[in-house]
Amino acid sequence: FKNPCISVCKKFKNMYVLGIETSCDETAVAVTKDNEILANSVSSSVHLHKDFGGVIPEIACRYHVEYINYVLKEALATARVGLDEIDLIAVTLKPGLVGALLVGISMAKALSLAKKIPLIGIDHLRAHLYAACIGKKRVSYPFIGLVISGGHTSLYLVRDVDRYKLLGQTLDDAAGEAFDKVAKLLNLGYPGGPIIQERAKRGKVDKFLFPKSNFDKTLNFSFSGIKTSVLYHVRYLLKGKLAAKPSEREVNNVAASFQDTMTDILTEKAIEACRRERVKRLVLGGGVSANALLRKKISRRAVESGIKLFLPEKKLCLDNAAMVAGLGSALYKKRREGR
Ligand code: KG4
Ligand code: ZN
Repeated sequence: FKNPCISVCKKFKNMYVLGIETSCDETAVAVTKDNEILANSVSSSVHLHKDFGGVIPEIACRYHVEYINYVLKEALATARVGLDEIDLIAVTLKPGLVGALLVGISMAKALSLAKKIPLIGIDHLRAHLYAACIGKKRVSYPFIGLVISGGHTSLYLVRDVDRYKLLGQTLDDAAGEAFDKVAKLLNLGYPGGPIIQERAKRGKVDKFLFPKSNFDKTLNFSFSGIKTSVLYHVRYLLKGKLAAKPSEREVNNVAASFQDTMTDILTEKAIEACRRERVKRLVLGGGVSANALLRKKISRRAVESGIKLFLPEKKLCLDNAAMVAGLGSALYKKRREGR
């Protein structure tokens, strides 16, 4: 990502960083000062995608175009920082919806050129892992990072802020995508994760048995089997009935069993990665890491295995620009120090 302007930031301490994130359906701008969040503004188009059971790129992109200026203004006002005080701009570069990314990148480049502020491009998945490192928490390297979002499920060995080794990833659906698709199947709406979590509270985990695909020799994931199994169970439940969807009680039970299986798979793989790599630190990131049952299970397993676990605050699990600004600041400092 070539910096469009030649200016460099001379400051290393008390750097004001403007983060911009538009990779999917959240238009987000944040201001950080070193590792502290001064503003974290997010405007989501999620309500516009509800009827479709997933993000419609065209709608997401138009929403970004319409709202990014307002979100920028709000973030600067909340942080009480003027554009002239910004030392660095960090923007999500990839992965994401290309049209959506383009809105944030165009805004970042325009501000960078106009104000002569250095610009850095950020990988969205790495930013998700950085979400657990913002604030007072100091996560040392190396650590195992598990990114579980709507579009990705990836396990990394992270040796430094810019050294990532991919250990495993999903071979089909992402973890969040599986939650979304199962919620759609059950007619529960979008996004599926929070709704399934809610319905699961009222369900019984042992009413259904869903398969755990297990690639013992690899750290890859696969969620298409469990999703298809939910589909067959739902069809079975509807067999001979006139209703278009299972009863409320059945939906709750499916949600509870599905969530239980998903959280087992994610927990076991993450702990196994730590064991294989002999790393005693584990970091989670991405929307699914907001799941309460997963947080509970993985915390317990981490304690049992002597692993130090770092979970992002719930509001930093979902897409936001504070994680982009945070990682931007850390990367920029490292590059300028020539480490
Ligand atoms: O990280 P994120 O905000 O966006 C992407 O980068 O994709 O993640 C969104 C995903 C959605 O699939 C949503 O269903 C899932 O995170 N999610 C959850 C929960 N909250 C959000 N999944 C399980 N349990 C939750 N509480
Ligand atoms: Zn994300």
